[in-house]
Amino acid sequence: MTSAASPPNGHVLLAVSGGIAAYKVPELVRQLGRAGHEVRCILTEAATRFVSPMVLQTLTGAPARSELFDAGEEGEISHIELADWADVVLVAPATADLLARMAGGLAGDLVSTVLLATRAPVLVAPAMNVNMWRHPATQRNLERLRERGVQVEGPEAGELACGWEGEGRMSDPTALAGRVGLMLGGHGWRGVGVLVTAGGTREPIDAVRAVTNRSSGKMGFAIAAEAARRGAEVVLVAGPCSLETPPGVRRVDVETALEMEAAVHESFESCHVAVMSAAVADFRPATPSERKIKKEDLAPGAGLRLELVPNPDILAGISARRGDRVVVGFAAESHDVIEAAKRKLARKACDLLVANDISRSDAGFDTDTNAVFLVSPGGQVEELPLLSKAEVAARLLDRIEKLRGVVR
Ligand SMILES: Cc1cc2nc3c(=O)[nH]c(=O)nc-3n(C[C@H](O)[C@H](O)[C@H](O)COP(=O)(O)O)c2cc1C
Repeated sequence: MTSAASPPNGHVLLAVSGGIAAYKVPELVRQLGRAGHEVRCILTEAATRFVSPMVLQTLTGAPARSELFDAGEEGEISHIELADWADVVLVAPATADLLARMAGGLAGDLVSTVLLATRAPVLVAPAMNVNMWRHPATQRNLERLRERGVQVEGPEAGELACGWEGEGRMSDPTALAGRVGLMLGGHGWRGVGVLVTAGGTREPIDAVRAVTNRSSGKMGFAIAAEAARRGAEVVLVAGPCSLETPPGVRRVDVETALEMEAAVHESFESCHVAVMSAAVADFRPATPSERKIKKEDLAPGAGLRLELVPNPDILAGISARRGDRVVVGFAAESHDVIEAAKRKLARKACDLLVANDISRSDAGFDTDTNAVFLVSPGGQVEELPLLSKAEVAARLLDRIEKLRGVVR
């Protein structure tokens, strides 16, 4: 909720926890200030060992609190007032310990209490040793936070302060300030229509059997969730799956490719961005039987011959009439991933193709993580590291923002 007294570029409450990356916080404060945001800082007790509250107080012009039970500070602006004051809370750096406290709903210190009390959107910028980052406990905490709508930026890969190499560096202050700007609606997702397809299709053979595939829908649901979080108006056309509809998303359930095509065409006119991540069956049984086909109906020992006919190519169909819309396709490939993706991009004439290697066990169908390549019409290929599907969704939307020219 934005308070009536918010300045044009909003109130940013910067919560600092005790990681070595806290040395970058003064620069982050300056960048947020330069973007026109009013900034206040709160620190964990551990954070005060890495960055001086006095420095942050001087840069922001407001007290930088670190204690919950300080009668003087609490009298000046209470922890609940701080939580209500914020239009966005940025947690940077976010330690493994603070992420665990947030995921567990703990409120034993000023920062975690404010985080539990605030109703503002929260962005966390994790920073830690690579093994702490990869630990299943940390990943699970992150997943729980994402499920609650907490946004995550980074960490980046590189040389870490602890001497290890790998993911764990806090994202650059410029990237964090940019993301905060987006969350405050400074850029163009509000009012943008985003159409997403997700999951596989189910093509009936008879009354009980069907031709389908292993797509879980998780990637498309993550994209829809992220777009809604950024303020877009999202329609999610979903094949059969048991995933929950993300908050703020309008969902249209379909079964077959023909139904998906009809639903996509219905919503396409009013969308500005279409992300076709569903695994649409290329073929369907030509003459599905309305009744269950019984073994006894066949000659003894005879097999069942299925005639398959091609399904419409939904992605190529909408690409052909996209106008100034951004159209993004997905390709699940098991070998020669990049070359196959480049060929598919040329065939479908879309603006970006997201290719994943389904031969990996940690990416592709029915996993919570994905490792994708973003292939552009010019032939450029950007490889993203193994990330949660929520994080892939965030990176993909960042890329679409650039394609739409909304981030300058
Ligand atoms: C020199 C040093 C550097 C540290 N760097 C990190 C770090 O980058 N990320 C992290 O999660 N924890 C780091 N820690 C551990 C945290 O400071 C520790 O877990 C602390 O309890 C976190 O408290 P807080 O979450 O309340 O800030 C570091 C500890 C030390 C002594």
